[in-house]
Amino acid sequence: MSKNLGAWEKAKREGRKMTMITAYDYPFAKLADEAGLDAVLVGDSLGMVVAGEADTLRVSLEQMEYHTRIVAAGVKRALVMADLPFGSFEESPAQAFAASARLLKAGADIVKLEGGAPMVETVAYLSARAIPVCAHIGLTPQHVRQFGGFKRQGKTPEAAARLIEDAVALAEAGARIVLMEAIPSDLATEITQRLSVPTIGIGAGNGTDGQVLVLHDVLGLNTDRAPGFAKRYLDGAALMQTALGQYADEVRAVRFPA
Ligand code: KIV
Repeated sequence: MSKNLGAWEKAKREGRKMTMITAYDYPFAKLADEAGLDAVLVGDSLGMVVAGEADTLRVSLEQMEYHTRIVAAGVKRALVMADLPFGSFEESPAQAFAASARLLKAGADIVKLEGGAPMVETVAYLSARAIPVCAHIGLTPQHVRQFGGFKRQGKTPEAAARLIEDAVALAEAGARIVLMEAIPSDLATEITQRLSVPTIGIGAGNGTDGQVLVLHDVLGLNTDRAPGFAKRYLDGAALMQTALGQYADEVRAVRFPA
């Protein structure tokens, strides 16, 4: 699939699943692109998995711009999605436009913003001004203080109904993709069936149009913490520690350089 969002809507109609992985720099973005992923997400999760912080709240727009630029440099084919970080877009649609324009100039094809109903006006404003938007609902990590932790959302009938309303309103406002994090599988499936735009899930079951995971969880580079819903496809940390240990041993034994 391509940078053309029309192709994403077509894939949804044809029932083809879409694939996305986070990337924060050139080499991993290039690997993901060459591996055939449909999209790379320059997620503000970089605050946690790259910078070692406890949450995403300290990530700045300048950091997102920098990482978007170095990811875009490695991508020829996949869609590049970039997160609007906490504090860069919530005050007004105009503030969101200025921040989004910076991310598009840095190489993003689409921006992602967190939030439900309060973001509907902003999504409409951006969509009317040449900014493609992905709306992120459910467990939105930028609301971690309000949620009292990284907690699954949409568990009560009232909360589920609110999420359905939010998703429909965001899509009607112009969101081109709706991303749902850590909500019940049947709720994510129902939202997916109601929307004509593609949905991407993370910890939301297999009824969404596509899936996203954090790169460091997939490659086993995250030795601190990984959410229960993530799947590790490689023990990257062990492989790298072995290689680094071999290098250090060879230097100490004067076997390298030969
Ligand atoms: O920042 C991020 O990596 C994300 C994904 C977890 C969806 O928003």
